[in-house]
Amino acid sequence: MTIWDQHALISPVIDSEIPSSSSKTTNDRPRLGIMASGSGSNFEAIVQAVQSGQLDAEVPIVIYNNPQAAVVDRAARLGIPAVCLNHRDYASREALDGAIVAVLRDHNVNWVIMAGWMRIVTPVLINAFPEHVLNIHPSLLPSFKGGRAIEQAFQSGVKITGCTVHYVVPEVDSGKIIMQAAVPILETDTLETLQARLQVQEHKIYPAAIAIAAG
Ligand code: GRF
Repeated sequence: MTIWDQHALISPVIDSEIPSSSSKTTNDRPRLGIMASGSGSNFEAIVQAVQSGQLDAEVPIVIYNNPQAAVVDRAARLGIPAVCLNHRDYASREALDGAIVAVLRDHNVNWVIMAGWMRIVTPVLINAFPEHVLNIHPSLLPSFKGGRAIEQAFQSGVKITGCTVHYVVPEVDSGKIIMQAAVPILETDTLETLQARLQVQEHKIYPAAIAIAAG
């Protein structure tokens, strides 16, 4: 089963909206600027979808804010240029976002992909790329917005949680939903086992959602 078939099973969009696999010219291809703060497993899943030809896009840059972030090792292995913009070097969220916008523009990015970016973004970034900023959140939004979403779901007693790819708007985790995947919470789950199963789904839906939004 490809990620596109999977998409048909887990998302309510109709079949005609499933992206075709026809390839674009270099000029038409979406240029994804990825933002990551940590491990970067979603970054890697997106790059692998691009490099395997499943996602017709380019990834000219990944920006990270934590100098220790493991995403930098993944970027080196995958051959993607990486730039560190440490939030501690900026006086405000707006100043950091202004620097991010400058780097993204330098790389001719037209889609901004937040993949585990652990900072709240401001209109400085959102308005620079109107309706072209996406995020992935580890819950079935609108449930469990904000930080520690997996823990919130786990402790609430719900039996099903999941992950959501959505457009970014100034209100945190509130933009239009593009795709979701559901994940059951098992009696035997720990936070770690639940997170591992969630990430399997995240890695499927993020490339597919990008294809829908940017395709
Ligand atoms: C993911 O669970 C994502 O939903 C959340 O942050 C996590 C990032 O994981 N926003 P990774 O760095 O992509 O492995």
